[in-house]
Amino acid sequence: MKITASSLSGIGMPFAGFGTYQLTADQAEFCVKEALNAGFRHIDSAEAYNNEEGTGRGIKTAGIPREKIFITTKVFPGYRQWDIPDKNGVQTIETLKNQLRKLELDYVDLYLIHAPLSELRLEQWQALTELKKSGLTKHIGVSNFGIEQINEILNAGLEKPEANQIEFHPLCNRSGLTDYMRNKSISPVAYSPLAPLSGWRIEEGQGGNVLTETRKPSRSVIRETAAELHVSEAAMLLRWGIQHGYSVITKSSKPERIRENLKAYDFEIPESCMKRLDMLNRNQPIAWAASGINPMDAAPPVSIP
Ligand SMILES: NC(=O)c1ccc[n+]([C@@H]2O[C@H](COP(=O)([O-])OP(=O)(O)OC[C@H]3O[C@@H](n4cnc5c(N)ncnc54)[C@H](OP(=O)(O)O)[C@@H]3O)[C@@H](O)[C@H]2O)c1
Repeated sequence: MKITASSLSGIGMPFAGFGTYQLTADQAEFCVKEALNAGFRHIDSAEAYNNEEGTGRGIKTAGIPREKIFITTKVFPGYRQWDIPDKNGVQTIETLKNQLRKLELDYVDLYLIHAPLSELRLEQWQALTELKKSGLTKHIGVSNFGIEQINEILNAGLEKPEANQIEFHPLCNRSGLTDYMRNKSISPVAYSPLAPLSGWRIEEGQGGNVLTETRKPSRSVIRETAAELHVSEAAMLLRWGIQHGYSVITKSSKPERIRENLKAYDFEIPESCMKRLDMLNRNQPIAWAASGINPMDAAPPVSIP
């Protein structure tokens, strides 16, 4: 199947997603508008990004009909080790209502639990099923959930998550989880696809200086393979995720990079180069490392509602 920027996954999600983490509200307004004008039709947001007013203004000023855009956002579940209280079901429902006010939207296309960090995650999941019934979100899913946490939902007899957003790039390919999601028809969504780049989150306070030694050995393979394909390293990393069947979410604060990142949909990586990149896997998540946790390993025992 030839995948283009407007190709849709099983739940109607465009393969090309634009993320808004680490943008101020004003940057989010500018960048979301740029991304939509450049051709992105999927915007990824979150309660925890503290910029949804800006994202909402960017969506509005881009002037694209609402039904042509796919909007994802996430509830932060709480995390006791950071002194952030767990949300119960009622609070989860109120959270999306507040987010919709900030985004100036009537509904989102996909609502996710940001990570399995709360023992109340089954109660939160039930709340998401209610939100779907009420039409405030068209689809529901999870993020940073491993096989065990998805099975908790299925074993409780609750509706299956329609998507799981996870860190996915050549250093972290989680093939077991990817196979599991494929078998269960759960749409895989990749975040932090550019984490192997030397310039990833390079600005002060963005946390890209973590695990640099771990990332170094892959540098020459990534550089040489991109040169061989005559594409940028960024476009190649995005394309690698797409060819593994993932919708890929990338973020840039710079208009020229926002446009460049859409070039990932204009070429194909031959099988021999895919295999070379696949061999870089270390199952090493990087995106949350600066905050001191791996969200997939941090799940407390679940409380059964
Ligand atoms: N669910 C979760 O737990 C979770 C976690 C992390 C991220 N996410 C989502 O996924 C989105 C993407 O992940 P991310 O923000 O971690 O990282 P990313 O898209 O993998 O990389 C962003 C970094 O790469 C740089 N960059 C972007 N395009 C580039 C290009 N063409 N050439 C060189 N450098 C480039 C950006 O710098 P400039 O901005 O300076 O261009 C920034 O430092 C987030 O915004 C968020 O929506 C979700």
